[in-house]
Formats: sequence, C-alpha cells, structure tokens
Amino acid sequence: MSTDKPTGSALITGGAGFIGSHLSELLLDAGWEVFVLDDLSTGSERNVAHLRERRDFHLIVDSVLKNSVVNELVHRCDVVFHLAARRAAGRMRSRRRSTSSSRSRTTRSAGSTA
Ligand SMILES: NC(=O)c1ccc[n+]([C@@H]2O[C@H](COP(=O)([O-])OP(=O)(O)OC[C@H]3O[C@@H](n4cnc5c(N)ncnc54)[C@H](O)[C@@H]3O)[C@@H](O)[C@H]2O)c1
Repeated sequence: MSTDKPTGSALITGGAGFIGSHLSELLLDAGWEVFVLDDLSTGSERNVAHLRERRDFHLIVDSVLKNSVVNELVHRCDVVFHLAARRAAGRMRSRRRSTSSSRSRTTRSAGSTA
C-alpha cells in the first residue's frame, strides 16, 4: 500500500528546544523518522515527552560539539536541521559574545560533518 507521505530521516540539532520540538512533531506527522540531538542545556526533555513513545522518534542527549556523535547521525539521516544554539538571554556584552561564539562553534561542528 502506498501513501502520499514522504519518507526519510531527519536530524534536528537542538530538537528539544522551542522550534525543534515543534518541527519534530511536524516531521513525524508527515511520516519522517526523526533524530533529535540535544544536550538539554536550555531545552527540555519535557518539550518532546509526548513524542518519546513513538518508534520513529529518537532523542540523543549529547552535544553537537561532539564530532563522533554528529558524524554518525549526519550519515544516518537524509536531512539536517541545525537549530542547536544557546539562548541569547540577557543583553550583557560578555553574554552576547559567549552566545555568538557558541553558535559559531556548533554550526562549524555540524557543518563540517555534513
Ligand atoms: N524562537 C524564535 O523566535 C527564533 C527566531 C529566529 C531564530 N531563532 C533561532 O532558531 C534556533 C532555535 O531557536 P529556539 O527558540 O528553538 O531555541 P531554544 O533555546 O528553545 O532551543 C535551542 C536548543 O539547542 C540546544 N543546544 C544548545 N547548545 C547545544 C549543544 N552544544 N548541543 C546540542 N544541543 C544544544 C538547547 O538545549 C535547546 O534545546 C536558534 O538558533 C535561534 O537563534 C529562533
């Protein structure tokens, strides 16, 4: 029996965050298998608790800064949504610099593997 649903697997870094958890739900409903890579530094397992029972949903609690983990997942998945980032809380200059630096590092890490 064929369906109109696309099939494939998606990696969502930062998938336990605000946007990532909603994207996970959307993709699962569209028939995708979803791998979330999140270190839960600012996101929460609660955001994806309703998805945990699904066979096509996988939560990997680890950092995108860990190349071996990113490498394995990127090769396992058809598409990558890179949303992992530290929330820009506060407006202090030092905080901004730290957040910006973290975002660059996570993007470089995920990008170099993809
Ligand atoms: N929410 C918005 O309105 C909005 C608007 C424009 C752009 N964005 C961008 O979209 C992205 C996601 O936004 P959000 O609101 O979902 O943020 P969020 O803070 O809710 O989610 C980010 C997730 O990244 C995870 N994370 C942080 N560092 C990590 C690391 N090293 N390894 C693995 N996971 C890590 C956090 O635990 C968190 O779950 C961000 O890049 C943000 O700047 C958001």
